[in-house]
Amino acid sequence: RAANVAIVGATGAVGVELIGCLERRGFPTASLRLLASERSAGRRIGGHVVEAVSMDAFAGVDVAFFSAGAGVSRAYAPLAAAQGALVVDNSSAFRMDPNVALVVPEVNAADLPAGPGIVANPNCVTAVSVMALGPLRALGGIVRVIGATYQSASGAGAAAMDELTASTAAQLAGEAFAPKVLPHPYAFNLFSHNAAVDPETGYNGEEEKVMAEHRKILGLPDLRISFTCVRVPVLRAHSMALSVEFDRPVSPSAAREILAEAPGVRLVDDRAANHFPMPVEASGEDDVLVGRIRQDLSDPEGKTLALFLSGDQLLRGAALNAVLIAERLWR
Ligand code: A2P
Repeated sequence: RAANVAIVGATGAVGVELIGCLERRGFPTASLRLLASERSAGRRIGGHVVEAVSMDAFAGVDVAFFSAGAGVSRAYAPLAAAQGALVVDNSSAFRMDPNVALVVPEVNAADLPAGPGIVANPNCVTAVSVMALGPLRALGGIVRVIGATYQSASGAGAAAMDELTASTAAQLAGEAFAPKVLPHPYAFNLFSHNAAVDPETGYNGEEEKVMAEHRKILGLPDLRISFTCVRVPVLRAHSMALSVEFDRPVSPSAAREILAEAPGVRLVDDRAANHFPMPVEASGEDDVLVGRIRQDLSDPEGKTLALFLSGDQLLRGAALNAVLIAERLWR
């Protein structure tokens, strides 16, 4: 049967993509309830009137997508689940909860629960990265990952995307621009991810999430992993450079063969044309682009590969992954 669907955070950057993904993929939808804050109540999106989220918003809802931040998820997701909804939560609220599955369907669909409840959607960097790392496990066990990210504005929401556009226009016009959403000037600049930095370790909250989520999704609790997360002035696709060490020697050509066949991945690895993954080509695409596949020459034992990825933060990094989870659970 078709599901009664609710989207919490429907007016946000991810919410809008969720509406689009459900429609585009033909998710069996009997009714669609759009929820956001009181600020948006009464707004119309595609023939639906947005309602303020409330305690009784989830009666009769079969599938609820949450993308309004961890606070809203903590307040309402358990309530929706208790009323029988299958909840796909895009926030960080439940990702590391040992009782909640954290899933990228192409990688660890086996972790999905059998019945209703909360399933967590990973952080957008993790979701893109494991699309390559998951299939590469066919080469051997992954023992170490070093990553550096080039993250887009969309990860900080629709207001951050607007700020990137407005600040770039202001700079080109020679006008002053005071950032309001992000902590630093964004036009013609980049900066260490705006999540708070742990004074002990020096890692920021984004990096800590990404590292912990890789371990959980890949089922490698002891994985040696380190990320440096950086925001770059790109609108909506995240890119990253990865160095991946295996437990045995590996070859770039074998990796290329595996990734060429991997669902949800597109090889963009043309050395002659110097054409590799780029955020402008990943934007609006379901597939994660993977290329620059090469032996990492810092490892004399030949066990390490270097690669570069670009993936749409709003789709694979959020809305598409959430809808793929819902498709598996609802069928
Ligand atoms: P609203 O537009 O009413 O503020 P983004 O990630 O693009 O910033 O979007 C965040 C989403 O989360 C928006 O849909 C926003 O709704 C919603 N949201 C933010 N705070 C709340 C809240 N306290 N209750 C319900 N929805 C919220």
